[in-house]
Amino acid sequence: MSLRMSRRDLLLAGAAMPVLLSVVPARGEAQRIETLLDRMTLEEKAGQLTLVNDPFRWRPGNVNPDAFDPGQQAVAQEIREGRIGALFNGIGAAQARYAQHLAVQESRLGIPLLLAADVIHGLRTIFPVPLAETASWDPDLAARTARAAATEAGASGIHQTYAPMVDIARDQRWGRVVEGAGEDVLLGRLFAAARVRGFQGDELRDASSLVATPKHFAAYGAAEGGLDYAGAELSERALREVYLPPFRAAFDAGACSVMCGFNTVNGIPATADPWLLQQVLRREWGFRGYVVSDYTADAELVSHGFAEDARDAVRLAFLAGVDMSMNSRLYQRYLPELVAEGVVPMARLDDAVRRVLRVKEALGLFDDPWRGMDSEREARVVRAPAHVALARDAARRSVVLLRNEGGLLPLRPDLRLALIGPFGADADNVLGPWSIFGEREHAVTLEAGIRAAIADPDRLTVVPGSGIESDLPGGIDAAVAAAGAADVVLLAVGESQWMSAEGHSRTEIDLPPPQAALVEAVMQAGRPVVVLLKTGRALALTGSVAEADAIMVTWFLGQEEGNAVADLLFGSAAPSGRLPVSFPLRTGQQPFYYARLSTGRPAQAADQAYTAHYRNLPDGALYPFGHGLTYGSVRYEPPRLTAERLMAGGRLTATARLVNDGARDADEVAQLYLRDRAARVVQPRRLLKAFSHVTVPAGGAVEVSFDLGVGELAYLGPDMQPTADPGWFDLWIAPNAESGVAAAFRLD
Ligand code: NOJ
Repeated sequence: MSLRMSRRDLLLAGAAMPVLLSVVPARGEAQRIETLLDRMTLEEKAGQLTLVNDPFRWRPGNVNPDAFDPGQQAVAQEIREGRIGALFNGIGAAQARYAQHLAVQESRLGIPLLLAADVIHGLRTIFPVPLAETASWDPDLAARTARAAATEAGASGIHQTYAPMVDIARDQRWGRVVEGAGEDVLLGRLFAAARVRGFQGDELRDASSLVATPKHFAAYGAAEGGLDYAGAELSERALREVYLPPFRAAFDAGACSVMCGFNTVNGIPATADPWLLQQVLRREWGFRGYVVSDYTADAELVSHGFAEDARDAVRLAFLAGVDMSMNSRLYQRYLPELVAEGVVPMARLDDAVRRVLRVKEALGLFDDPWRGMDSEREARVVRAPAHVALARDAARRSVVLLRNEGGLLPLRPDLRLALIGPFGADADNVLGPWSIFGEREHAVTLEAGIRAAIADPDRLTVVPGSGIESDLPGGIDAAVAAAGAADVVLLAVGESQWMSAEGHSRTEIDLPPPQAALVEAVMQAGRPVVVLLKTGRALALTGSVAEADAIMVTWFLGQEEGNAVADLLFGSAAPSGRLPVSFPLRTGQQPFYYARLSTGRPAQAADQAYTAHYRNLPDGALYPFGHGLTYGSVRYEPPRLTAERLMAGGRLTATARLVNDGARDADEVAQLYLRDRAARVVQPRRLLKAFSHVTVPAGGAVEVSFDLGVGELAYLGPDMQPTADPGWFDLWIAPNAESGVAAAFRLD
């Protein structure tokens, strides 16, 4: 027997929300689009679907067309001829105004350009990388940083961002884990929606709003072996339960564009997959925005072995549902002839153009093509003090304190400190790998932040000790000497920002050997050690680094990194972040995530024969998903349920008392996990269903409650419809995915 979910059940559980169609134009505007369509040639229609790299970027101040190189002149001419409808990754009000002038005043129909950019975690004020920000477990924070980024980008003439990246990432070898919200579906959905709301604001016509483009549709993060651009082989169930929900959440929040992935999904390139782009996206979800390809992904259908040649690639991508082509220029080249020859129906071409024009209309570009292109406003808005303050706050809240033996942290500001490691004084790995418009000179290094925070700046010694992936002659000796002379050692080690990011997958997700040797030697000096761990993914911490007295994951925190880390080290703020990805024991466990399906042979003891464990390892995390310490010390007391039985249509509340035995108030993220003991499809060992931020006063206690209905118990049944089976459920209210206090209840 099973219970069908009512729409109300699912709404209460947040599983389905009303779809916002923010790109449906009013009648007069729709007419304007139709009138234009009637007047457009085939070439002009293909032009609206052609997006190329902005060649006018990076020119400070006024644009000087007389000094253009041939490439710039060629693009200017194509815009005049209506053969390009959108540019990306340019920046600056003056440049944008110039490009827009070509389209609006020098092209036949005067259709404004759409100017897009990868505004991922800030435009000029750089916030923490998305994975780090997700460690705040605070979607509202992500909405606020996205809003600030949109305000700056809008003032630099940009209309659209290629964000948020909403790919669930469960293999930490993949380089692009850094760009998303980690491994969990609930966090993925909440952060996707929050970021879309932040970017798009309340009103798209406002010059501080950007069209959001969730990417990469779909399952790009499920690349086999964690190898970027590799294919994803996965069941429809995994797609629908894990990889698609963050996209759905982004569309429910109003996102009016989407970018498809470079990858194949079960053998079909996402760039040419009618099931994804028509069945799921349009028919099931009612998406009304436009689909953009990833960078030259249409052309890549040939190297995939899916299309015979470039023309065939255009036919396949376009007929599957990709409306706009990024940077290959293939739509411009082949669409007119494909339509003229009847291979592609004119109606399909008109649909795609209509979708793009609707987005331009929704942005208000037909009424005000100069929207946001005002250099004076740009100067005021970009890097405004409020944005910088937000960057510092966001950075503080993104740090995860993994370990703090003996309460070493926070530190007294009068200690002699040695800051050792390749990242101590380094400004090249502060902003993060997706900050193309951020400037190094604004990056506050660890050294700068710490020096500014301590009582006597001369009590800080800074020694690199090693390079990031290379030895430094004499480096280790100098580091050991500095450690010996210090009261506390701060070890700034980890990955460079280019060890994460697109095209930067790793086979070993550990400390590079020269840094591991440095850590080994410095730890021998016997001083208390705080590791400040830079990374864009979960790392496998092995050897001495895992034994340090304290470990803080500092990711790539954006421009305020040094200040934020100093705030936490010296206790003017307390760490409150929680891991959005599981830290494994070894690389070889990948893909590794907490919500794995229950096995028939769970290991009860570390080396129990013929159970699910590795020969040399227990089946667990070094630091589980959800883990993070603060300066208080919080205990969870056993939960109480308002009922042991939940009837269909009813609700049940689970409450736990959280007690802080420490001397400081503690910011706790109490997490609710469930397990369905017996379902018609095997369910995860645990699944995050809700979480709540609470402050537990020093020496005091608070109660945290979670309200549950049948909607929270739903899974996709054998027929792929949401369902719940009567029977027993385990529930944990927990500080992370591997511990907590438990209770059980029955669904009747
Ligand atoms: C390729 C990346 O996969 C995508 O995320 C990005 O938006 C485009 N390049 C444009 O830069």
